[in-house]
Amino acid sequence: MTDNDALRERIAGELSAARDRTSYLTTAVDEADLVRQHSPLMSPLVWDLAHVANQEELWLLREVGGLTPIHPEIDPLYDAFEHPRSKRPTLPLLAPGEARGYGHEVRGRVMDLLEKTRFDGTRLTDGGFAFGMIAQHEQQHDETMLATHQLRVGPPVLSAPPPPALLDAVTLPAEVFVPGGPFTMGTSTEPWALDNERPAHVVDVPPFYLDTTPVTNAAYAAFIADGGYDDPRWWTADGWAHRQRAGLEAPLFWRWEGEWVRVSFGVALPIIPNEPVLHVSWYEADAYARWAGRRLPTEAEWEKAARHDPVSGRSRRYPWGDFDPTPEVANLGQRHLRPALAGSYPLGAAPSGARQLIGDVWEWTSSDFLPYPGFTAWPYKEYSEVFFGPEYKVLRGGAFGVSPVACRGTFRNWDYPIRRQIFAGFRTARSASLETA
Ligand SMILES: [Fe+2]
Repeated sequence: MTDNDALRERIAGELSAARDRTSYLTTAVDEADLVRQHSPLMSPLVWDLAHVANQEELWLLREVGGLTPIHPEIDPLYDAFEHPRSKRPTLPLLAPGEARGYGHEVRGRVMDLLEKTRFDGTRLTDGGFAFGMIAQHEQQHDETMLATHQLRVGPPVLSAPPPPALLDAVTLPAEVFVPGGPFTMGTSTEPWALDNERPAHVVDVPPFYLDTTPVTNAAYAAFIADGGYDDPRWWTADGWAHRQRAGLEAPLFWRWEGEWVRVSFGVALPIIPNEPVLHVSWYEADAYARWAGRRLPTEAEWEKAARHDPVSGRSRRYPWGDFDPTPEVANLGQRHLRPALAGSYPLGAAPSGARQLIGDVWEWTSSDFLPYPGFTAWPYKEYSEVFFGPEYKVLRGGAFGVSPVACRGTFRNWDYPIRRQIFAGFRTARSASLETA
C-alpha cells in the first residue's frame, strides 16, 4: 500500500466515523425533536445535519474538486456567520429527509473525488488537509449536537457504558510540578492542525504546580457550601456582575434536592463526588480557583504540562507520546457520555504526572484567545482570526464528547466566559516561586 492509499483509507475511515455519529445523534430523536430548538444557544439538530453537508460540498466538491454547486441557493441558510443560532429555526431549512438526502449525495461524490485526489500540489490537498478539516468539522458539530441533547428536555434517548473503573487515584499527589524553562508550543508539522495551532514557537514558562486531575464535583460542592457564590472576593468584577445577573448558584444541570443532583442526558442522579465537575463557566472556574488560593493555568502552562518531555526536550503530540488516542489513554469520542473519575487513565499521563489532560472535560485556561507569533489565516479568516481578542477564553484538551480526530495536544478551543452548555471543567495551578506568583 502506498502512502497515498494509506492516507485515503484513513480519510475514508474518519469521514465515515463522523457520519455514523451524526446519524446516531439525529436518529435518536423523532422528526419533531430534530426541527425544534432546544435552547436559544443551539441550532435545531436539522440545521447541523445540512450544515455539515453544505460545508463538505463547499470545501471538498467545489474547492478541491472544482465541481458545480449542487444546491447553491441553500448556501446562505447554512452559513454560520449569516444567521445566529437563535434565529436559525425561523429559516426555510431543509426538512430532515431532504437534509439526509443532501448529505448522502455530497458524501457519495466526495468518495469518488477521494479516489482521484493526489495529496500534494495544492495547500488544500497537502497531507489530505481539506478532507481532515471536514472530518473534524463534522465531529465538532457532533459535539455541538451532543450539547444540544444535553439541553433537550424529555425522556432519555442516548445511552453509553460508563467509563472504565479507576485503579490508583487515591495514591495520587494533589498537584504535579512542572519545571521552568522553554518549550515548543503549537505545531508546524501536524498535517490536519488548524491555523490557530500554528506555527510552532518557543515559549519560556516559569516553574509552576498544576492539579494532577481536573477539579472534582466534591471539591466544587465544597466551594458552594463555603458560600463561594455569595462572596464577591472570589470573583472578578465582570464575573460577579454576571453571577448576580444570571442568578448562578451551582454548575448548569445541578439542582439541590437535599443533596446535589445532576441531570445528564435526561437522567437525574446524585453527583458522583470524584468525577470532574462539568458545565461551569470561565467565571465560575476562575472564582473557584481564587477561593482555593490558586489560579487557572495559562494556556502555555497547560500545553507545557501536557506535551513537554523533559528528557528529550521536545514536545510530544499528546501527553502519553506521539501515537493517536486509544481507549486506553483517553476518554474521547462519545464512547462514554460522562467524564471518567478524576485520576483515571494512568496510561495517558503526561511526563509531568498530570492525568486526563486530553479527554473527559474541556479545561478553561486563564488565557484570551490570541494568535501565535507568525499566525496566518488558513484556509479562511472566519475559522479563527475573527474570534481573536479578549472576549474569548481558551479551553484545552477536549472532552468525552470530542472525537480523537478533532483533539490534539495543540488543539485550541475558545468560548465566552459566561458559557456553560459546553462540556467544560477546569484544573487549577499555582506559581512555584514568589517572583512569578
Ligand atoms: Fe460549522
